[in-house]
Amino acid sequence: MKNKLIVANLKKSMSLEETSTYLKYVNQIYASNLIICPSNIYIPYFLKHGYEVGIQNISHLENCSGEISPRQAYELGLRYVIVGHSDRRTLFHESDEMIHQKVIKSVQSGLHVILCIGETKEDRDLLRTDRVLRRQLELGLKEIEEVDQIIIAYEPVWAIGTSITPSLKDIQKTSIFIKEFLKHKKKWEDVKVLYGGSVTNQNISSILKIQEIDGVLVGKSAVEGSSFLKLLEVAV
Ligand code: PGA
Repeated sequence: MKNKLIVANLKKSMSLEETSTYLKYVNQIYASNLIICPSNIYIPYFLKHGYEVGIQNISHLENCSGEISPRQAYELGLRYVIVGHSDRRTLFHESDEMIHQKVIKSVQSGLHVILCIGETKEDRDLLRTDRVLRRQLELGLKEIEEVDQIIIAYEPVWAIGTSITPSLKDIQKTSIFIKEFLKHKKKWEDVKVLYGGSVTNQNISSILKIQEIDGVLVGKSAVEGSSFLKLLEVAV
């Protein structure tokens, strides 16, 4: 599992004191395949401690209050950005077109994009999963040629923060679907596909054993330092 990627999405959790404790728990030993995406204001702390750091969102707009541009993120030393997380798609009504703009601007600035895609429970019940994923991939990656800068995170919306996950077989099937789609549509051979949604130290090992899965995107289980450390011990 050495080459599998672990992306921690810490969202807006943690106080300053909790961040210091966290930094003590999770140290640089894991830096080679670990990307931490902290709340924006704590990014400099993680950079200072030598972590590979990603940003949870980016703005594609020219000039806008309260936003961060891909170029600023790159110049600070970040190399990864999460785009299209379901929090952003649902709570902030980010459309596929907005997500596409964010992907373009991020790639142009030199960032690696972790593009989140995933179906809702309703999509799944109505057997629309493939159609939804195809649309999100097609529109999000329109005119993008930089395969080396793109990572796909398959995160079923109904699995995020719910303690419910698809079966291992389903995760594998979907990853194969994504890889095949990109192979045919864009002639991309080696795009990495991560799984995200209720990953814990109980299930991470079996998820990472899936050959077609190149890593995981972890939310809740990454937030508390000691439990995240356990997860990393199982995974690395
Ligand atoms: P979760 O979150 O691990 O808590 O389900 C994943 C995410 O929000 O990306």
